[in-house]
Amino acid sequence: MMVNLSNDVEKVLLSEDEISDIIKDLGKRITEDYKGKNLLLVSVLKGSIVFMADLMRSIDLQCRIDFMAVSSYGDGTKTSGRVKIIKDLDLDLAGYDLLIVEDILDSGVTLSYIKNMLKGRGPRSIKICTFLDKPERRIAKDIIADYIGTTVPDEFVIGYGLDYDEKYRNLPYLGVLKREIYA
Ligand code: IMP
Ligand code: MG
Repeated sequence: MMVNLSNDVEKVLLSEDEISDIIKDLGKRITEDYKGKNLLLVSVLKGSIVFMADLMRSIDLQCRIDFMAVSSYGDGTKTSGRVKIIKDLDLDLAGYDLLIVEDILDSGVTLSYIKNMLKGRGPRSIKICTFLDKPERRIAKDIIADYIGTTVPDEFVIGYGLDYDEKYRNLPYLGVLKREIYA
């Protein structure tokens, strides 16, 4: 299974079992913290869909989900910190305890912009849950994740929703891409 995709993987960072343990742990914490609240999980497409699908099933509370899609303005190597909304949320945020679900917190520039924008819509509370944190690359120092699955080193990771050139999102574990694929 997955022989073709796995050929491009240099090493496995997190196996499917390790990911499953991380998700269970996050789900337990979120279930405890959001008792009696009005939880709305917001996923920023596309990288976080696999994480979102697993995380929501590990939360033992009533909650709602919503999605948004954005694209960053910039010249390709630098992000300007401004994002364009491609698909907005369906729900009005007033009264919700918002939990933004992200695949990876890297520079933090995109998430910083999105968090501030959503804060302006008057949710009751707003927090961030990221599957991966790459703290070495942080530019937006104000952004901290309230829930972190695990910390990863400064390497380009793929799988479990994360892409290289829009590919490898369907790899069921987290890996590092072979250098020859992108060099
Ligand atoms: P930033 O935090 O504004 O720099 O943007 C984070 C986004 O960059 C993520 O949502 C991913 O789409 C992408 N990204 C950052 N690091 C990686 C990686 O190692 N592999 C795949 N995508 C990444
Ligand atoms: Mg991406």
